[in-house]
Parts: sequence; structure tokens; C-alpha cells
Amino acid sequence: MAQNKFIVFIDKRFLASGLAELKEMFGKISEDKVATDRFHIMKINRAPNGAVEAVYKERPVFIDDLIPLIGVVDFKDGDYSKVIKFLTKELHKEKSFKLEVMNAESVSSENAKTIEVKIGSALEGKGFRVDLKNPERYMYVVLNKNKAYVGKLHKDTAIDFVLDHFREENNKSKKPISRAWYKLDEAIRFFRIDISRVDHALDIGAAPGGWTAYLVKAGARTVAIDGAEMDYKNLKKVGTVAVAKNDAELGRLDMVNTDIIHLKHNVNEVKKETFRKFGPFDGLFIDMNSPPADVAKIARKCADFLNKGAVLVLTVKIFGGNVEKHMKEVKSILSPKYGQIAFKKLAYNRMELTLFGRKK
Ligand SMILES: C[S@@+](CC[C@H](N)C(=O)[O-])C[C@H]1O[C@@H](n2cnc3c(N)ncnc32)[C@H](O)[C@@H]1O
Repeated sequence: MAQNKFIVFIDKRFLASGLAELKEMFGKISEDKVATDRFHIMKINRAPNGAVEAVYKERPVFIDDLIPLIGVVDFKDGDYSKVIKFLTKELHKEKSFKLEVMNAESVSSENAKTIEVKIGSALEGKGFRVDLKNPERYMYVVLNKNKAYVGKLHKDTAIDFVLDHFREENNKSKKPISRAWYKLDEAIRFFRIDISRVDHALDIGAAPGGWTAYLVKAGARTVAIDGAEMDYKNLKKVGTVAVAKNDAELGRLDMVNTDIIHLKHNVNEVKKETFRKFGPFDGLFIDMNSPPADVAKIARKCADFLNKGAVLVLTVKIFGGNVEKHMKEVKSILSPKYGQIAFKKLAYNRMELTLFGRKK
């Protein structure tokens, strides 16, 4: 029988676009309940076999994730015996598994990691085998109110899958320069960008420097443009830094001796000769808080200073809610210069999308 109930993750801010995308892919859907800002249980009528694989292959813009729902069980704060009993029936002793728990506004006062360890060790005590690196089964438990929604994914589908993107951020004792760092990290993984091929990067709207630090750490000498101050103290931990506030200072700098050159200017004031002097670049990264058409025009202008095949990663801020209109407009501005254009609402995007493109 084809699967027809799913745990669906769509950011509440993009729910209308996400539902439209789901309908286009699967036909009629009915929403059973909206549980939290990101997580929903949905019934998809006649979801074709392979529906889940399609989501992971076609990489829709607004659907974060789609996990087949295999059961719903009650639980109490600190007592997950029914969840353990359910998983005991679902798992095979000869096959290893990995469990991920998400506490999505549930009655449980424990954090997801603690619950995961509790359930995992109870299952190990019953002879089941946990394998965090290369498991044969991926099981997911989303806790909401007093219900545990249990889902599972095939191991090929689950490879890139993270149930709770923010857990890594919350657990890290060493924080990056800015939260934007996570957005670039997620974009690079989602769009499967081989960042090691970017030797020279242009980072516009770069302050305080999360993206710059990421790029330099990945091996790219980077020209960072922003009128605002950058976090030089932390940038110096990843490479050598030079700042140019005027043309005379700029004239003395080169990319052979410096990992990071900060042009402390509004990008519209940077002359063509300056881009030429420091280019050509293998990657253009733009994270400006400006209207999408303006940002797209900057990317189009900068295309002249990029090598063929250079990657473009650009944040598209959504102003006034008209998502599809912004996407269309940005795409039409960029299309003459960039191919393979794709958008994604990443977990780390707020009221914005991330665009990928490649210089033609
Ligand atoms: C969201 S922040 C960028 C965060 C940065 N990517 C990071 O990882 O730390 C947006 C930046 O865009 C810059 N910005 C906005 N308009 C700009 C312009 N016309 N030229 C240069 N920078 C601009 C702002 O000064 C601000 O620092």
C-alpha cells in the first residue's frame, strides 16, 4: 500500500509556497494538524511510491523534509516506554539503527539529546544495535504535546538528512563570527558546492565576517566588501587581514600576500578597475540586506570579474511577502550571465531564500 501520511517540515513563514509545492508534486493533500512553526503532519492522497525519494532528488525550494509517518504513540514527561515498545516492533535485531529525536513543543522537560540517549540505551539493552555512522535504519521521533510521531527513512535518502538543524548551533561552545556562517555552510552542503575549487572569492555584504571566515578557512583568498566594520580580531585567527578605506591604501594591497582584503566601501562605490585588480574570482558570495532586484543587479555586474563556471551564492531577502514574484524577477536579471539557477529556503534562512548559480 502506498504511504500516505508524512511528517512534513515547512517553515511557517513559507507555508503557502510549501503547500503549493507539495500539491504540485503529489496532488491533493490534507493537513491533519499544524504542530509547530516548522513541523506538520499531513495526509497526501495517493502519494505515489517513491514520493519521498522525489523530494530528496528534486530538491524542492520550500519543503525542508518529508518523512513517512509509521506511527503515533503517547508518552509522558520522562517516560518513553510506549515509544520504546513501538520501536522494538519496528526494528530488527540484526540491523543497526540511528535514532534522532526532536522535541517540538512537547510536554517533555528533557532535551532531545537526553531523550535520544534514554531511548537508544533502552533499545540497546534489548539487544538492538545503535550505529551513528553507518546505520541500516534511520528512525525519527518528533515529540509534540504528549504525542510521539515516529518516522523512518531509507538509508540512501537519509544520507544528508538532519532532523534538527539548529542542534549543532545550540551545542557548539565555539560560536562562529556570525549566525550567517551556518547559512553558508548549509548552502554549500545543500547545493553540493565543491568549495575547495574556489581559490579566489568575492564576498559582498561581508560584515561582520562569518562567510569570509568560512571561505578563508576553506582555502579561498577573499575580497570582502562592506561599509561596516568587520570582526578583525576573529578574522585574524583564520588568515592575514588588510583593510582598505581609500584608493591609496588599495593600491598597496595584493592577493598574494593577504588572505582577506576588506574594502570598507558600499559595493556601488567600488570601481571596475578594483574588481579587475583583485579578480578574476572563482566564487561570488552576496549576503546583503537589500531588495532582491538590487542585489541581483550587483551579481550581474560582478559576473564580468568571475571565471567561467564560478559559483554564485546569493541571499534573496523577501520584502513584502511576494515570494514567487521576487524569485522570477531575480532569475530574469541573472539568467543572461548565470546558469543552473536554483533557490532553496534553507533552515537557516529567515524571511529570505538562498540562490545558487554558475557563471556562464
Ligand atoms: C546580513 S549582513 C552580512 C553577514 C555576513 N555575510 C556574515 O557572514 O557575517 C548584511 C551586510 O550587508 C551590508 N550591506 C548592505 N548594503 C551594502 C552595500 N550596498 N554595499 C556593501 N555592503 C552592504 C551591511 O553593511 C551588512 O553588514
